[in-house]
Amino acid sequence: MSIYTEKVIEHFKNPRNQGKLKDYDAVGEKGNPVCGDVMYIYIKVKDDIIVDIGWETMGCAAAIATTSMLSELAKGKTLDEALKLTREDVADGLGGLPPVKMHCSNLAADALHEAILKYREKHKKKKSK
Ligand code: FES
Repeated sequence: MSIYTEKVIEHFKNPRNQGKLKDYDAVGEKGNPVCGDVMYIYIKVKDDIIVDIGWETMGCAAAIATTSMLSELAKGKTLDEALKLTREDVADGLGGLPPVKMHCSNLAADALHEAILKYREKHKKKKSK
């Protein structure tokens, strides 16, 4: 019997928004030194809204499913709204994750937050020039 919900398996088999964006404004990278998994989240921003998102995940089934779910949740959101997305939101969207796999959703949320912070940092520098 699988420890995963049907939704996790479905996202794992049909990942949404997967792949590096050709044209992106910022990338967030997170890795877990314990399991060795790494993910990159690319965002394209217009008028403070995430208009496009792509990702690359080298990791377990839960890491792939959570990045896929996160990308669906974040697309179309303002940067402030996307910053509020938590690992629980991602796990809830997938109908739950086994406790040993919660750190995988943490990676996805953290990578997105890092991409947003980098975007803001870059933008602040441009404005102050
Ligand atoms: Fe490391 Fe899933 S086991 S991200």
